[in-house]
Amino acid sequence: MDAGQPSRSAMSAAVARGIHRIHDAPPWILDDPFALPLVGDGWQAFAEQSVALSRPPYQARSGVLLRARYPEDVLASGVYAQYVILGAGLDSFAWRHPDFVRKGRLFEVDHPATQTWKRERMRALALPASDRQVLVPADLTGDTLDASLTRAGFDWSLPSLLSWVGTTMYLGPDAIGATLRIVARCAAGSGIVLSYNPRPELLDDLHREVLDDVSRLVAGMGEPLRSAFAPDEIERLAATAGLQVAEAPSHADLERRYFNGRPDGMRLLMIERLLWLRV
Ligand SMILES: C[S@@+](CC[C@H](N)C(=O)[O-])C[C@H]1O[C@@H](n2cnc3c(N)ncnc32)[C@H](O)[C@@H]1O
Repeated sequence: MDAGQPSRSAMSAAVARGIHRIHDAPPWILDDPFALPLVGDGWQAFAEQSVALSRPPYQARSGVLLRARYPEDVLASGVYAQYVILGAGLDSFAWRHPDFVRKGRLFEVDHPATQTWKRERMRALALPASDRQVLVPADLTGDTLDASLTRAGFDWSLPSLLSWVGTTMYLGPDAIGATLRIVARCAAGSGIVLSYNPRPELLDDLHREVLDDVSRLVAGMGEPLRSAFAPDEIERLAATAGLQVAEAPSHADLERRYFNGRPDGMRLLMIERLLWLRV
């Protein structure tokens, strides 16, 4: 990321979530009424980029929506006292799920430059704050996540779910491995849902073409893609860190589960792969 600049890819992802209500028909993959207000003026330019990346009925927003939805489904399917969103960007979980925040604790970890900007947007929109929603500034290349979480009040003895979507591809394998080793120190019953970019040769022609477009776009935002894995490579990195695979859903699994019979005919365009790991 460019020093001192909030992540434009985070704004772009938020806009992809926000325009779902404008362009598509319910049922929503994920309903995010906070996304466009959080981005504020200029969201239309990101919306145009999202449309340009799409190959209808394969919409670029579909993958962004799904990578936000899937960890929230994992959270809802288990008993977790704490939810940690790594590389949170403009995630609006806190306001979409006030019930969780009333009972559990939410930690949003992000690069300080992005988080400072998000705080300003939250203040400008007068979004409700809670001491159970803790914003934790941390650079995930710095190997200080555990200290940052501890300082923020994270309780390492409680079962926790971490979500880390749309972010590992901006980091190198060393930083990813270091973060996974910290996750492995969480209490029994904890887990992490992450997304990663697969090696380009594992993609079909449509997704490889879109990956080329995305690579150019995010490099132009000062956020070049830095990592891609074969499934066995990322699973080995996770195993070495001490984590076990709970689920590694395929693109076809996810399309069947979330996009079957949609009234708007939207199909899943998603370069990333999702991986749910258990401590
Ligand atoms: C594409 S955005 C994804 C945001 C959010 N997870 C989503 O899906 O909307 C990438 C996020 O990674 C964060 N990020 C990138 N490099 C980082 C680093 N070294 N440390 C912490 N966060 C980082 C950015 O600030 C940004 O919020």
